[in-house]
Amino acid sequence: MVDEAALIQAALDVRRNSYSPYSRFAVGAALWTVDGSIVAGCNVENGSFPLSVCAERAAVATAIGLGHRQFMAVAIVAGDDPVTPCGGCRQVLLEFGDMDVICVSARDCHRVSRYRLRDLLPHAFDLEELR
Ligand code: THU
Repeated sequence: MVDEAALIQAALDVRRNSYSPYSRFAVGAALWTVDGSIVAGCNVENGSFPLSVCAERAAVATAIGLGHRQFMAVAIVAGDDPVTPCGGCRQVLLEFGDMDVICVSARDCHRVSRYRLRDLLPHAFDLEELR
């Protein structure tokens, strides 16, 4: 069972480390792995703007490096209103299976929107074609 409160807290905590001097839009993301671990990441911007990395992708890269391969949920904390992951991050997350997407306002962590990843990315590129 996903400990949603702990997952949201991890996303809140990591968001404080966001490096976002250009957009000033801090994002924290935390993944719940199938074995019950939490792995978090924040957005890391770059003066060469396209090289910036989203929080979700930072979390995925860290989790994969730690040996995780499957996630049950991701919590994302950003914005005044809850924000959903960008299109690219939806595809990157889906690589590791369908999951709950818990989007939380950074202003009020009780404002939460919940989705299923597949519903956020209908007609996704079919990974089975590559396997
Ligand atoms: N950002 C994320 O970290 N995740 C998203 O899903 C959307 C956007 C970051 C990228 C950039 O650093 C800032 O938010 C503004 O776009």
